[in-house]
Amino acid sequence: MAFHFIFCFFAPIFFSIFLYHLLRNSFKSNRRKPPLPPGTLGWPYIGETFQLYSQNPNVFFASKQQRYGSIFKTHILGCPCVMISSPEAAKFVLVTKSHLFKPTFPASKERMLGKQAIFFSQGQYHAKLRKLVLRAFMPDAIKSFVPTIESIAQHSLRSSEGRLVTAFHEMKTYTFNVALLSIFGEDQMLYSEDLKRCYYVLEKGYNSMPINLPGTLFNKSMKARKEIARILAKIISTRRRMKPDCNDLLESFMSDKEGLTDEQIADNIIGVIFAARDTTASVLTWIIKYLGENPSVLQAVTEEQEAIMRGRQEQKLSWEDTKKMPLTSRVIQETLRVASILSFTFREAVEDVEYEGYLIPKGWKVLPLFRNIHHSPEIFPGPEKFDPSRFEVAPKPNTFMPFGNGTHSCPGNELAKLEIMVLLHQLTTKYRWHIVGSSSGIQYGPFALPQNGLPIRLFRK
Ligand code: HEM
Ligand SMILES: *[C@@H]1O[C@H](CO)[C@@H](O)[C@H](O)[C@H]1NC(C)=O
Ligand SMILES: *[C@@H]1O[C@H](CO)[C@@H](O)[C@H](O)[C@H]1NC(C)=O
Repeated sequence: MAFHFIFCFFAPIFFSIFLYHLLRNSFKSNRRKPPLPPGTLGWPYIGETFQLYSQNPNVFFASKQQRYGSIFKTHILGCPCVMISSPEAAKFVLVTKSHLFKPTFPASKERMLGKQAIFFSQGQYHAKLRKLVLRAFMPDAIKSFVPTIESIAQHSLRSSEGRLVTAFHEMKTYTFNVALLSIFGEDQMLYSEDLKRCYYVLEKGYNSMPINLPGTLFNKSMKARKEIARILAKIISTRRRMKPDCNDLLESFMSDKEGLTDEQIADNIIGVIFAARDTTASVLTWIIKYLGENPSVLQAVTEEQEAIMRGRQEQKLSWEDTKKMPLTSRVIQETLRVASILSFTFREAVEDVEYEGYLIPKGWKVLPLFRNIHHSPEIFPGPEKFDPSRFEVAPKPNTFMPFGNGTHSCPGNELAKLEIMVLLHQLTTKYRWHIVGSSSGIQYGPFALPQNGLPIRLFRK
Protein backbone atom coordinates (compact mmCIF):
# COMPACT_ATOMS: atom_id res chain seq x y z
CA MET A 1 0.00 0.00 0.00
CA ALA A 2 1.11 3.43 0.79
CA PHE A 3 4.14 3.14 2.83
CA HIS A 4 6.39 3.34 -0.02
CA PHE A 5 9.24 5.65 0.11
CA ILE A 6 9.93 5.75 3.76
CA PHE A 7 9.72 2.06 3.62
CA CYS A 8 12.77 0.42 5.14
CA PHE A 9 14.37 3.51 6.45
CA PHE A 10 14.52 2.16 9.92
CA ALA A 11 15.34 -1.43 9.10
CA PRO A 12 18.33 -2.06 11.30
CA ILE A 13 21.57 -1.48 9.50
CA PHE A 14 22.88 -4.74 10.84
CA PHE A 15 20.25 -6.56 8.95
CA SER A 16 21.56 -5.12 5.69
CA ILE A 17 25.14 -5.99 6.52
CA PHE A 18 24.08 -9.48 7.39
CA LEU A 19 22.05 -9.86 4.22
CA TYR A 20 24.81 -8.45 2.08
CA HIS A 21 27.34 -10.98 3.33
CA LEU A 22 24.88 -13.78 3.28
CA LEU A 23 24.04 -13.08 -0.34
CA ARG A 24 27.65 -12.69 -1.37
CA ASN A 25 28.57 -15.95 0.26
CA SER A 26 25.62 -17.80 -1.09
CA PHE A 27 26.54 -16.76 -4.62
CA LYS A 28 30.13 -17.83 -4.15
CA SER A 29 29.20 -21.25 -2.91
CA ASN A 30 26.36 -22.06 -5.25
CA ARG A 31 27.24 -21.33 -8.83
CA ARG A 32 24.35 -23.17 -10.35
CA LYS A 33 21.87 -20.56 -9.24
CA PRO A 34 20.58 -18.31 -12.01
CA PRO A 35 21.94 -14.75 -12.13
CA LEU A 36 20.37 -11.81 -10.41
CA PRO A 37 18.41 -9.42 -12.62
CA PRO A 38 20.44 -6.57 -14.22
CA GLY A 39 20.85 -3.27 -12.42
CA THR A 40 23.05 -1.73 -9.78
CA LEU A 41 22.73 -2.05 -6.04
CA GLY A 42 24.65 1.16 -5.36
CA TRP A 43 26.59 1.45 -2.16
CA PRO A 44 25.76 -1.19 0.39
CA TYR A 45 23.54 0.16 3.20
CA ILE A 46 22.71 3.40 1.42
CA GLY A 47 21.97 1.92 -1.97
CA GLU A 48 20.37 4.16 -4.51
CA THR A 49 18.14 5.94 -2.08
CA PHE A 50 19.66 9.34 -2.85
CA GLN A 51 19.00 8.99 -6.56
CA LEU A 52 15.46 7.96 -5.75
CA TYR A 53 14.90 10.96 -3.52
CA SER A 54 16.79 13.50 -5.57
CA GLN A 55 14.30 13.24 -8.42
CA ASN A 56 10.72 12.43 -9.11
CA PRO A 57 10.49 8.71 -8.21
CA ASN A 58 8.76 8.00 -11.49
CA VAL A 59 11.69 9.43 -13.40
CA PHE A 60 14.00 7.17 -11.41
CA PHE A 61 11.94 4.08 -12.25
CA ALA A 62 11.48 5.03 -15.90
CA SER A 63 15.17 5.69 -16.51
CA LYS A 64 16.10 2.39 -14.85
CA GLN A 65 13.58 0.59 -16.97
CA GLN A 66 14.93 2.19 -20.11
CA ARG A 67 18.41 1.07 -19.24
CA TYR A 68 17.81 -2.45 -17.92
CA GLY A 69 14.44 -3.58 -19.21
CA SER A 70 11.29 -4.61 -17.41
CA ILE A 71 13.01 -6.41 -14.51
CA PHE A 72 15.94 -4.90 -12.67
CA LYS A 73 17.46 -4.85 -9.23
CA THR A 74 18.20 -1.88 -7.02
CA HIS A 75 18.73 -1.11 -3.38
CA ILE A 76 16.58 1.43 -1.62
CA LEU A 77 16.42 2.36 2.03
CA GLY A 78 18.44 -0.58 3.22
CA CYS A 79 16.58 -3.21 1.22
CA PRO A 80 17.78 -4.97 -1.90
CA CYS A 81 14.85 -5.21 -4.24
CA VAL A 82 13.73 -6.28 -7.65
CA MET A 83 11.46 -3.96 -9.58
CA ILE A 84 9.21 -5.35 -12.25
CA SER A 85 7.25 -3.48 -14.88
CA SER A 86 5.76 -5.90 -17.37
CA PRO A 87 2.17 -7.20 -17.23
CA GLU A 88 3.48 -10.79 -17.26
CA ALA A 89 5.77 -10.23 -14.28
CA ALA A 90 3.05 -8.44 -12.34
CA LYS A 91 0.70 -11.37 -12.96
CA PHE A 92 3.43 -13.79 -11.81
CA VAL A 93 4.03 -11.94 -8.53
CA LEU A 94 0.47 -10.88 -7.66
CA VAL A 95 -1.69 -13.64 -9.12
CA THR A 96 -0.24 -16.95 -10.28
CA LYS A 97 2.65 -17.21 -7.78
CA SER A 98 1.24 -14.99 -5.08
CA HIS A 99 2.01 -17.66 -2.45
CA LEU A 100 5.74 -17.06 -3.07
CA PHE A 101 5.46 -13.32 -2.37
CA LYS A 102 4.13 -12.10 0.94
CA PRO A 103 2.99 -8.58 1.77
CA THR A 104 5.65 -6.65 3.63
CA PHE A 105 5.57 -3.44 5.63
CA PRO A 106 7.84 -1.70 8.10
CA ALA A 107 7.05 -2.73 11.66
CA SER A 108 6.23 0.86 12.70
CA LYS A 109 3.47 1.04 10.07
CA GLU A 110 2.07 -2.24 11.27
CA ARG A 111 1.95 -0.98 14.81
CA MET A 112 0.16 2.16 13.78
CA LEU A 113 -2.49 0.58 11.60
CA GLY A 114 -2.76 -2.57 13.69
CA LYS A 115 -0.80 -5.79 13.38
CA GLN A 116 -3.85 -7.87 12.61
CA ALA A 117 -5.10 -5.71 9.74
CA ILE A 118 -5.90 -7.35 6.43
CA PHE A 119 -2.96 -5.90 4.45
CA PHE A 120 -0.37 -7.62 6.63
CA SER A 121 -2.08 -10.96 6.92
CA GLN A 122 -1.70 -14.18 4.97
CA GLY A 123 -3.19 -17.64 4.63
CA GLN A 124 -6.40 -18.60 6.40
CA TYR A 125 -6.73 -15.51 8.54
CA HIS A 126 -6.37 -13.33 5.44
CA ALA A 127 -8.93 -15.39 3.52
CA LYS A 128 -11.43 -15.05 6.35
CA LEU A 129 -10.98 -11.28 6.66
CA ARG A 130 -11.21 -10.88 2.92
CA LYS A 131 -14.47 -12.75 2.79
CA LEU A 132 -15.94 -10.47 5.49
CA VAL A 133 -14.69 -7.29 3.84
CA LEU A 134 -15.85 -8.31 0.36
CA ARG A 135 -19.27 -9.18 1.73
CA ALA A 136 -19.68 -5.64 3.05
CA PHE A 137 -18.36 -3.90 -0.10
CA MET A 138 -19.91 -5.93 -2.90
CA PRO A 139 -22.45 -4.18 -5.13
CA ASP A 140 -25.48 -5.72 -3.40
CA ALA A 141 -24.32 -4.44 -0.03
CA ILE A 142 -23.41 -0.89 -1.07
CA LYS A 143 -26.44 -0.27 -3.34
CA SER A 144 -28.58 0.89 -0.46
CA PHE A 145 -26.03 3.57 0.49
CA VAL A 146 -26.38 5.55 -2.74
CA PRO A 147 -28.94 8.12 -1.49
CA THR A 148 -26.95 8.77 1.70
CA ILE A 149 -23.70 9.05 -0.25
CA GLU A 150 -25.42 11.64 -2.42
CA SER A 151 -26.48 13.66 0.63
CA ILE A 152 -22.91 13.56 1.92
CA ALA A 153 -21.67 14.78 -1.49
CA GLN A 154 -24.21 17.63 -1.56
CA HIS A 155 -23.25 18.66 1.92
CA SER A 156 -19.51 18.65 1.12
CA LEU A 157 -19.93 20.73 -2.03
CA ARG A 158 -22.29 23.19 -0.39
CA SER A 159 -19.82 23.85 2.39
CA SER A 160 -17.12 24.74 -0.17
CA GLU A 161 -19.24 27.14 -2.24
CA GLY A 162 -17.68 30.48 -3.05
CA ARG A 163 -14.61 29.95 -0.86
CA LEU A 164 -11.02 29.32 -1.84
CA VAL A 165 -10.60 25.68 -0.85
CA THR A 166 -8.08 22.91 -1.28
CA ALA A 167 -9.76 20.26 -3.39
CA PHE A 168 -7.89 17.41 -1.68
CA HIS A 169 -8.85 18.62 1.76
CA GLU A 170 -12.55 18.85 0.88
CA MET A 171 -12.47 15.47 -0.85
CA LYS A 172 -10.85 13.91 2.22
CA THR A 173 -13.78 15.05 4.34
CA TYR A 174 -16.16 13.53 1.80
CA THR A 175 -14.34 10.19 1.53
CA PHE A 176 -13.96 9.98 5.31
CA ASN A 177 -17.71 10.37 5.77
CA VAL A 178 -18.46 7.79 3.08
CA ALA A 179 -15.97 5.39 4.70
CA LEU A 180 -17.71 5.82 8.06
CA LEU A 181 -21.06 5.20 6.38
CA SER A 182 -19.82 1.94 4.87
CA ILE A 183 -18.36 0.85 8.21
CA PHE A 184 -21.04 1.96 10.69
CA GLY A 185 -24.08 2.37 8.45
CA GLU A 186 -26.59 5.08 9.26
CA ASP A 187 -25.21 5.23 12.84
CA GLN A 188 -22.09 6.95 11.56
CA MET A 189 -23.08 10.45 12.62
CA LEU A 190 -23.12 9.45 16.27
CA TYR A 191 -19.42 8.72 16.38
CA SER A 192 -17.95 10.64 13.52
CA GLU A 193 -16.68 13.68 15.44
CA ASP A 194 -14.74 11.68 18.03
CA LEU A 195 -13.39 9.26 15.48
CA LYS A 196 -12.29 12.06 13.17
CA ARG A 197 -10.52 13.92 15.91
CA CYS A 198 -8.52 10.81 16.87
CA TYR A 199 -7.87 9.72 13.32
CA TYR A 200 -6.37 13.11 12.44
CA VAL A 201 -3.88 12.74 15.29
CA LEU A 202 -3.14 9.17 14.28
CA GLU A 203 -2.36 10.03 10.66
CA LYS A 204 -0.04 12.90 11.60
CA GLY A 205 2.35 10.38 13.07
CA TYR A 206 2.11 8.14 10.10
CA ASN A 207 5.27 9.27 8.37
CA SER A 208 7.10 10.19 11.56
CA MET A 209 10.12 8.53 13.09
CA PRO A 210 8.90 5.56 15.09
CA ILE A 211 10.32 6.73 18.38
CA ASN A 212 7.94 5.98 21.19
CA LEU A 213 8.88 8.60 23.80
CA PRO A 214 6.41 10.97 25.46
CA GLY A 215 5.73 13.98 23.24
CA THR A 216 6.85 12.50 19.93
CA LEU A 217 4.42 12.39 17.00
CA PHE A 218 4.65 8.64 17.04
CA ASN A 219 3.71 8.47 20.71
CA LYS A 220 0.73 10.80 20.15
CA SER A 221 -0.37 8.64 17.25
CA MET A 222 -0.22 5.50 19.31
CA LYS A 223 -2.28 7.21 21.99
CA ALA A 224 -4.88 8.27 19.42
CA ARG A 225 -4.95 4.70 18.18
CA LYS A 226 -5.78 3.43 21.65
CA GLU A 227 -8.53 6.00 21.96
CA ILE A 228 -10.04 4.87 18.64
CA ALA A 229 -9.97 1.29 19.90
CA ARG A 230 -11.84 2.44 23.04
CA ILE A 231 -14.52 4.22 20.99
CA LEU A 232 -14.90 1.13 18.82
CA ALA A 233 -15.21 -1.14 21.85
CA LYS A 234 -18.09 1.06 23.06
CA ILE A 235 -19.81 0.89 19.67
CA ILE A 236 -19.38 -2.87 19.54
CA SER A 237 -20.81 -3.43 22.99
CA THR A 238 -23.83 -1.22 22.22
CA ARG A 239 -24.45 -3.23 19.07
CA ARG A 240 -24.18 -6.50 20.94
CA ARG A 241 -26.95 -5.33 23.28
CA MET A 242 -29.24 -3.72 20.70
CA LYS A 243 -28.70 -6.17 17.84
CA PRO A 244 -29.71 -3.67 15.14
CA ASP A 245 -30.38 -4.79 11.59
CA CYS A 246 -27.44 -3.45 9.54
CA ASN A 247 -25.52 -4.37 6.46
CA ASP A 248 -22.30 -2.48 7.11
CA LEU A 249 -18.72 -3.61 7.61
CA LEU A 250 -18.92 -3.65 11.40
CA GLU A 251 -21.91 -5.96 11.18
CA SER A 252 -20.02 -8.25 8.83
CA PHE A 253 -17.08 -8.42 11.24
CA MET A 254 -19.33 -9.00 14.26
CA SER A 255 -21.47 -11.68 12.68
CA ASP A 256 -18.54 -13.91 11.78
CA LYS A 257 -19.23 -17.31 13.36
CA GLU A 258 -15.65 -18.12 14.25
CA GLY A 259 -15.56 -14.67 15.79
CA LEU A 260 -13.07 -11.86 15.44
CA THR A 261 -11.74 -10.38 18.66
CA ASP A 262 -12.47 -6.70 19.42
CA GLU A 263 -8.82 -6.01 18.77
CA GLN A 264 -8.92 -7.65 15.35
CA ILE A 265 -12.04 -5.66 14.50
CA ALA A 266 -10.36 -2.40 15.58
CA ASP A 267 -7.21 -3.09 13.57
CA ASN A 268 -9.25 -3.75 10.47
CA ILE A 269 -11.57 -0.80 10.84
CA ILE A 270 -8.64 1.57 11.23
CA GLY A 271 -7.03 -0.20 8.26
CA VAL A 272 -10.07 0.25 6.04
CA ILE A 273 -10.35 3.96 6.87
CA PHE A 274 -6.71 4.29 5.95
CA ALA A 275 -7.12 2.35 2.68
CA ALA A 276 -10.32 4.13 1.71
CA ARG A 277 -9.86 7.79 2.46
CA ASP A 278 -6.74 9.39 0.97
CA THR A 279 -6.70 7.07 -2.03
CA THR A 280 -10.19 7.98 -3.19
CA ALA A 281 -9.70 11.65 -2.28
CA SER A 282 -6.53 11.88 -4.41
CA VAL A 283 -8.29 10.31 -7.38
CA LEU A 284 -11.15 12.81 -7.04
CA THR A 285 -8.63 15.66 -6.86
CA TRP A 286 -6.95 14.49 -10.07
CA ILE A 287 -10.32 14.23 -11.82
CA ILE A 288 -11.19 17.80 -10.85
CA LYS A 289 -7.85 18.88 -12.30
CA TYR A 290 -8.14 16.92 -15.55
CA LEU A 291 -11.73 18.02 -16.14
CA GLY A 292 -10.68 21.61 -15.52
CA GLU A 293 -7.92 21.28 -18.12
CA ASN A 294 -10.01 19.48 -20.74
CA PRO A 295 -13.13 21.57 -21.40
CA SER A 296 -14.49 19.27 -24.12
CA VAL A 297 -14.32 16.26 -21.80
CA LEU A 298 -15.96 18.30 -19.02
CA GLN A 299 -18.71 19.35 -21.43
CA ALA A 300 -19.40 15.72 -22.43
CA VAL A 301 -19.44 14.50 -18.81
CA THR A 302 -21.75 17.37 -17.82
CA GLU A 303 -24.18 16.45 -20.60
CA GLU A 304 -24.19 12.81 -19.54
CA GLN A 305 -24.84 13.81 -15.91
CA GLU A 306 -27.53 16.36 -16.82
CA ALA A 307 -29.41 13.66 -18.74
CA ILE A 308 -29.42 11.55 -15.57
CA MET A 309 -30.48 14.52 -13.46
CA ARG A 310 -33.46 15.11 -15.78
CA GLY A 311 -34.35 11.41 -15.79
CA ARG A 312 -34.55 11.12 -12.03
CA GLN A 313 -36.89 14.10 -11.52
CA GLU A 314 -37.48 14.43 -7.79
CA GLN A 315 -36.18 11.00 -6.90
CA LYS A 316 -32.93 10.28 -5.16
CA LEU A 317 -30.01 9.07 -7.24
CA SER A 318 -30.07 5.28 -7.52
CA TRP A 319 -27.59 2.51 -8.10
CA GLU A 320 -29.13 1.94 -11.55
CA ASP A 321 -28.44 5.59 -12.44
CA THR A 322 -24.77 5.07 -11.71
CA LYS A 323 -24.71 2.29 -14.29
CA LYS A 324 -25.74 4.77 -17.00
CA MET A 325 -22.54 6.80 -16.92
CA PRO A 326 -20.24 5.20 -19.52
CA LEU A 327 -18.38 8.37 -20.35
CA THR A 328 -17.92 9.34 -16.71
CA SER A 329 -16.61 5.81 -16.06
CA ARG A 330 -14.00 6.20 -18.78
CA VAL A 331 -12.91 9.52 -17.29
CA ILE A 332 -12.42 7.74 -13.96
CA GLN A 333 -10.45 4.93 -15.61
CA GLU A 334 -8.24 7.32 -17.54
CA THR A 335 -7.58 9.33 -14.37
CA LEU A 336 -6.63 6.16 -12.50
CA ARG A 337 -4.23 5.34 -15.33
CA VAL A 338 -2.57 8.74 -15.84
CA ALA A 339 -2.36 9.63 -12.15
CA SER A 340 -1.53 6.06 -10.96
CA ILE A 341 -1.79 7.25 -7.38
CA LEU A 342 -0.32 4.00 -6.09
CA SER A 343 2.81 3.96 -8.25
CA PHE A 344 3.71 0.49 -7.00
CA THR A 345 3.21 -2.02 -4.24
CA PHE A 346 5.55 -4.15 -2.12
CA ARG A 347 6.01 -7.87 -1.71
CA GLU A 348 8.81 -10.01 -0.28
CA ALA A 349 10.04 -13.32 -1.74
CA VAL A 350 9.40 -16.08 0.81
CA GLU A 351 11.92 -18.38 -0.91
CA ASP A 352 14.40 -18.18 -3.80
CA VAL A 353 12.24 -17.70 -6.89
CA GLU A 354 13.30 -17.98 -10.51
CA TYR A 355 11.62 -15.75 -13.05
CA GLU A 356 12.57 -15.52 -16.74
CA GLY A 357 16.02 -16.96 -16.04
CA TYR A 358 16.72 -14.58 -13.15
CA LEU A 359 16.96 -15.27 -9.45
CA ILE A 360 14.85 -13.32 -6.99
CA PRO A 361 16.55 -14.25 -3.71
CA LYS A 362 14.56 -15.12 -0.62
CA GLY A 363 13.99 -12.04 1.55
CA TRP A 364 14.35 -9.52 -1.27
CA LYS A 365 11.58 -7.03 -1.81
CA VAL A 366 9.70 -7.21 -5.09
CA LEU A 367 7.98 -4.09 -6.39
CA PRO A 368 5.42 -4.36 -9.19
CA LEU A 369 5.55 -0.88 -10.77
CA PHE A 370 1.92 -0.18 -11.68
CA ARG A 371 2.71 3.28 -12.93
CA ASN A 372 5.33 2.09 -15.41
CA ILE A 373 2.86 -0.42 -16.85
CA HIS A 374 0.15 2.25 -17.07
CA HIS A 375 2.58 4.61 -18.82
CA SER A 376 4.07 2.11 -21.26
CA PRO A 377 3.80 3.49 -24.81
CA GLU A 378 3.40 -0.05 -26.19
CA ILE A 379 0.31 -0.59 -24.06
CA PHE A 380 -1.12 2.94 -23.99
CA PRO A 381 0.06 4.96 -27.02
CA GLY A 382 0.88 8.57 -26.14
CA PRO A 383 0.74 7.62 -22.45
CA GLU A 384 1.08 11.13 -21.02
CA LYS A 385 -2.01 12.36 -22.83
CA PHE A 386 -5.31 12.39 -20.91
CA ASP A 387 -7.67 10.67 -23.32
CA PRO A 388 -10.68 8.82 -21.84
CA SER A 389 -11.66 7.45 -25.26
CA ARG A 390 -8.82 4.93 -25.09
CA PHE A 391 -10.99 2.96 -22.64
CA GLU A 392 -13.70 2.46 -25.28
CA VAL A 393 -11.78 -0.77 -25.82
CA ALA A 394 -11.27 -2.84 -22.66
CA PRO A 395 -7.61 -3.01 -21.61
CA LYS A 396 -5.82 -6.37 -21.83
CA PRO A 397 -5.40 -8.42 -18.62
CA ASN A 398 -2.76 -7.06 -16.24
CA THR A 399 -2.12 -3.91 -18.24
CA PHE A 400 -4.44 -1.75 -16.11
CA MET A 401 -4.31 -2.45 -12.39
CA PRO A 402 -5.22 0.65 -10.41
CA PHE A 403 -6.74 -1.66 -7.79
CA GLY A 404 -3.98 -4.29 -7.98
CA ASN A 405 -4.76 -7.91 -8.81
CA GLY A 406 -4.86 -11.29 -7.12
CA THR A 407 -5.27 -12.23 -3.46
CA HIS A 408 -4.67 -8.74 -2.02
CA SER A 409 -6.38 -6.67 -4.72
CA CYS A 410 -8.63 -3.85 -3.57
CA PRO A 411 -11.92 -5.08 -2.09
CA GLY A 412 -13.18 -1.48 -1.94
CA ASN A 413 -12.98 -0.76 -5.66
CA GLU A 414 -16.74 -0.82 -6.28
CA LEU A 415 -17.36 1.58 -3.42
CA ALA A 416 -14.53 3.83 -4.60
CA LYS A 417 -15.96 4.06 -8.13
CA LEU A 418 -19.47 4.57 -6.79
CA GLU A 419 -18.58 7.47 -4.52
CA ILE A 420 -16.53 9.12 -7.26
CA MET A 421 -19.49 8.93 -9.68
CA VAL A 422 -21.92 10.30 -7.13
CA LEU A 423 -19.69 13.27 -6.38
CA LEU A 424 -19.13 13.97 -10.09
CA HIS A 425 -22.89 13.87 -10.67
CA GLN A 426 -23.44 16.69 -8.20
CA LEU A 427 -20.30 18.61 -9.12
CA THR A 428 -20.81 18.76 -12.89
CA THR A 429 -24.55 19.45 -12.85
CA LYS A 430 -24.57 22.14 -10.15
CA TYR A 431 -21.13 23.75 -10.08
CA ARG A 432 -18.37 25.28 -12.09
CA TRP A 433 -14.88 25.80 -10.73
CA HIS A 434 -11.49 27.16 -11.56
CA ILE A 435 -8.06 26.13 -10.42
CA VAL A 436 -6.16 28.79 -8.47
CA GLY A 437 -2.44 29.16 -9.17
CA SER A 438 -0.17 26.81 -11.06
CA SER A 439 -1.28 23.23 -11.16
CA SER A 440 1.63 21.49 -12.83
CA GLY A 441 3.56 20.06 -9.84
CA ILE A 442 3.04 16.70 -8.20
CA GLN A 443 3.57 15.91 -4.54
CA TYR A 444 3.70 12.52 -2.83
CA GLY A 445 2.00 12.30 0.47
CA PRO A 446 2.34 9.28 0.09
CA PHE A 447 -0.15 9.08 -2.78
CA ALA A 448 0.50 11.14 -5.90
CA LEU A 449 -1.36 14.43 -5.62
CA PRO A 450 -1.46 17.74 -7.54
CA GLN A 451 0.78 20.36 -5.93
CA ASN A 452 -0.67 21.85 -2.73
CA GLY A 453 -3.71 19.63 -2.97
CA LEU A 454 -5.16 21.71 -5.84
CA PRO A 455 -6.54 25.05 -4.58
CA ILE A 456 -9.85 25.82 -6.34
CA ARG A 457 -12.82 28.12 -6.25
CA LEU A 458 -16.22 26.57 -6.60
CA PHE A 459 -19.37 28.42 -7.72
CA ARG A 460 -22.97 27.37 -8.00
CA LYS A 461 -24.16 27.39 -11.62
C1 HEM B 1 -9.68 4.95 -5.87
C2 HEM B 1 -9.41 4.53 -4.67
C3 HEM B 1 -8.61 3.30 -4.34
C4 HEM B 1 -7.50 2.79 -4.96
C5 HEM B 1 -6.75 3.36 -6.17
C6 HEM B 1 -7.14 1.58 -4.23
C7 HEM B 1 -6.08 0.76 -4.56
C8 HEM B 1 -5.74 -0.40 -3.90
C9 HEM B 1 -4.69 -1.31 -4.30
C10 HEM B 1 -3.79 -1.15 -5.52
C11 HEM B 1 -4.66 -2.33 -3.39
C12 HEM B 1 -3.76 -3.56 -3.43
C13 HEM B 1 -2.42 -3.29 -2.82
C14 HEM B 1 -1.50 -4.48 -2.96
O1 HEM B 1 -1.76 -5.44 -3.70
O2 HEM B 1 -0.46 -4.45 -2.29
C15 HEM B 1 -5.68 -2.05 -2.40
C16 HEM B 1 -5.95 -2.84 -1.30
C17 HEM B 1 -6.96 -2.59 -0.40
N1 HEM B 1 -7.93 -1.60 -0.49
FE1 HEM B 1 -8.06 -0.18 -1.92
N2 HEM B 1 -8.03 1.39 -3.20
C18 HEM B 1 -8.95 2.41 -3.25
C19 HEM B 1 -10.05 2.59 -2.42
C20 HEM B 1 -10.41 1.72 -1.41
C21 HEM B 1 -11.62 1.82 -0.62
C22 HEM B 1 -12.72 2.87 -0.83
C23 HEM B 1 -11.56 0.83 0.31
C24 HEM B 1 -12.55 0.44 1.39
C25 HEM B 1 -13.76 0.77 1.43
C26 HEM B 1 -10.33 0.09 0.10
C27 HEM B 1 -9.90 -0.99 0.85
C28 HEM B 1 -8.78 -1.74 0.59
C29 HEM B 1 -8.34 -2.84 1.43
C30 HEM B 1 -9.00 -3.32 2.72
C31 HEM B 1 -7.19 -3.38 0.81
C32 HEM B 1 -6.34 -4.56 1.31
C33 HEM B 1 -6.82 -5.86 0.71
C34 HEM B 1 -6.00 -7.07 1.11
O3 HEM B 1 -4.87 -6.92 1.59
O4 HEM B 1 -6.51 -8.19 0.93
N3 HEM B 1 -9.66 0.67 -0.96
N4 HEM B 1 -6.34 -0.88 -2.74
C1 LIG C 1 4.50 6.99 25.06
O1 LIG C 1 5.80 6.91 25.57
C2 LIG C 1 5.90 6.45 26.92
C3 LIG C 1 7.35 6.48 27.33
O2 LIG C 1 8.14 5.69 26.46
C4 LIG C 1 5.33 5.04 27.06
O3 LIG C 1 5.37 4.60 28.39
C5 LIG C 1 3.91 5.04 26.56
O4 LIG C 1 3.40 3.73 26.59
C6 LIG C 1 3.86 5.60 25.15
N1 LIG C 1 2.48 5.68 24.75
C7 LIG C 1 1.95 4.82 23.89
C8 LIG C 1 0.50 5.00 23.64
O5 LIG C 1 2.58 3.95 23.31
C1 LIG D 1 -5.83 -10.35 -12.98
O1 LIG D 1 -5.21 -11.53 -13.42
C2 LIG D 1 -6.05 -12.42 -14.10
C3 LIG D 1 -5.21 -13.63 -14.44
O2 LIG D 1 -4.12 -13.27 -15.21
C4 LIG D 1 -6.64 -11.75 -15.34
O3 LIG D 1 -7.55 -12.62 -15.98
C5 LIG D 1 -7.34 -10.47 -14.96
O4 LIG D 1 -7.78 -9.79 -16.10
C6 LIG D 1 -6.38 -9.59 -14.18
N1 LIG D 1 -7.06 -8.38 -13.73
C7 LIG D 1 -6.71 -7.17 -14.14
C8 LIG D 1 -7.43 -6.04 -13.49
O5 LIG D 1 -5.87 -6.96 -14.98
